[in-house]
Amino acid sequence: MSRLYIALVGLPARGKSLLAERLRDGLEADGLKVEVFNNGILRRLYLGGDSALPEFYNPENEEGRMQREQLALLGMRQAGEFLRAGGQVAILDATNGSRRRRQTLERHLSDAPLLFIECVNNDPELLEAGIRRKAELPEFSGLSPEEAVRSFKRRIAYYERIFSPLREEEHLARVETLSNRILEERSCSALPFYIQIRDILTSDRVLNLYLLRHGQSEFNVQNRIGGDSGLTALGRRQAEALGEYFKSFDIPFIFTSSRRRARETASPIIRDHPDSRHIMIPEFDEINAGLCEGMTYEDIRLSLPGEYAARQADKYAYVYPGGEGYVTLKERVARGFRKALFLSGAAPGIMIIGHQAINRVLLSLFFFRRDEAVPYIYVPQDEYFHIVSTHRKTLLELVRFTGRNHS
Ligand code: F6P
Repeated sequence: MSRLYIALVGLPARGKSLLAERLRDGLEADGLKVEVFNNGILRRLYLGGDSALPEFYNPENEEGRMQREQLALLGMRQAGEFLRAGGQVAILDATNGSRRRRQTLERHLSDAPLLFIECVNNDPELLEAGIRRKAELPEFSGLSPEEAVRSFKRRIAYYERIFSPLREEEHLARVETLSNRILEERSCSALPFYIQIRDILTSDRVLNLYLLRHGQSEFNVQNRIGGDSGLTALGRRQAEALGEYFKSFDIPFIFTSSRRRARETASPIIRDHPDSRHIMIPEFDEINAGLCEGMTYEDIRLSLPGEYAARQADKYAYVYPGGEGYVTLKERVARGFRKALFLSGAAPGIMIIGHQAINRVLLSLFFFRRDEAVPYIYVPQDEYFHIVSTHRKTLLELVRFTGRNHS
């Protein structure tokens, strides 16, 4: 029977544990027996309090180094036992940052192939978010959030002193967390399960995404585009109906654009989900119509007929003067989406309240549409999209949350 060790590599807060879970869930869904062995959990279990202090990670702290080494060996032993008892993939989740540590792994895990996967995340915003998430761990409960962040950053600085990226290892893959892009791969194709692993590394996992468009806004009624108007009375009723509808849903993360109409739509849902986190992602702001912001389509037709005609002729490729087009939106929307996934971790449900053009682009990330069809995807204000997506399948349903007539 084929068996494989996977050792994750990366500085703290790079998304290793999330990747470990994604790999485990994805491979399990393919029928494999998989388990994650996490050094951090072992450390908290056996060493507790003091091992949260930055000094514990100082490479010159010989005692700390020995203790971490012992825990790493324990993790390796458990992983080995798991494979010998019939497990198929053992995932070792730890920084495994120095060549020396990786040599220890190579020596101890020699009864099955060993694949190293490095998580690369150099995006300052995501990194900060990852650090903030770590600072919420119970081991920092005695510190204020700011102190916890400072302490964790000092821990990272110690790790940086000894960290070296993958280079000499026999089987390696380096993956960029934000884009799910494989930066480098070596001798992977012959490894067991690598085809599935590669699919998982390069695809998003969405447990439940509720994708909504904001309720009717003042500008919607006036047929004006863009801007930052608030909701109309109808829009507020739509928002209340949404709040009522989603009351019993488990949605730990609610993402909106930074626009008023999106935030106002979210507010009844946030009110009814006091434990959920509301995070604004400016990458979800509606398409910037540049010179045409605040105009009606009729205004554009009359005062800028050339622009109007150009957009009619090729709505996907058209870029508003001084603004954006669908063709330029994709990158920022995809970036916002990855940010949302990173921030929400393995949350059972996330909600995104966006806009017409934004939601079209978000939908096109899941469902192949020819470019020219994307600007015409149907994005209603009284229905939402429910999306579930793994490396194997994507499901989408359009669900009505209220009757069409709110007046
Ligand atoms: O009309 C509402 C709106 O969200 C505008 O703010 C935006 O410019 C437009 O929809 C995007 O849709 P389309 O690309 O079809 O003009």
